Amino acid sequence: MKGIIFNILEDMVVEKLGMAAWNSLLEKNAPQGRVYVSAKNYDDSELFSLAQAVGDTLQLPLADVVKAFGHYLFQGLVERHQSVVQRFASFDALVLGIHDVIHVEVNKLYVDPSLPTISCEKTSDNTIKMFYHSPRQLCLCAEGLLYGAADYYKIPITIQHTQCMHLGAEQCELIIEQRHD
Ligand code: HEM
Ligand code: ZN
Repeated sequence: MKGIIFNILEDMVVEKLGMAAWNSLLEKNAPQGRVYVSAKNYDDSELFSLAQAVGDTLQLPLADVVKAFGHYLFQGLVERHQSVVQRFASFDALVLGIHDVIHVEVNKLYVDPSLPTISCEKTSDNTIKMFYHSPRQLCLCAEGLLYGAADYYKIPITIQHTQCMHLGAEQCELIIEQRHD
């Protein structure tokens, strides 16, 4: 994973638990003297160890941490890549553009990023079906990112995870519905 992802995890941990907590997590779960540079690649296992350690500290399952981090991550990505996000006028347009616009842009900005395969289709006025596939199986991070995007556009959504790689499926299927309440 790219350093930018670790940088935003650091922001979240510092905001919720303080700088001392982050330094202590880093000391125990990363090579000595580690400084994350946004465009550099680091082992996925390092991110998972840190996320697991955050869960241990908060007594939360890893799945909850990954989802909460995804939610936080969206705003962090927006702040760092405003021009990429600003071109989308709505939540639907952004979600439909994740794979062919946003992550294509990411591919130009970063050398060798680790991106998932995502495809989306609108199945009704207020529903989008998303398929997610990645060797990293970060579908809960994707869910969190979608909730973060919904916050950004100030719309309420619900997500049903109707098929999951963690349960043996070839890919995950997410049904994203805009609520009218
Ligand atoms: C990585 C999904 C929007 C930039 C990822 C990953 C997921 C994901 C799940 C983790 C890697 C994996 O699963 O294999 C999504 C979804 C989005 C979204 C669902 C919208 C709701 C964005 C935006 C940006 C962005 C707006 C920034 C312009 C990146 C970057 C990585 C990434 C830099 C990390 C690549 C790496 O570490 O090598 N995305 N993404 N994404 N995404 Fe997105
Ligand atoms: Zn899944």
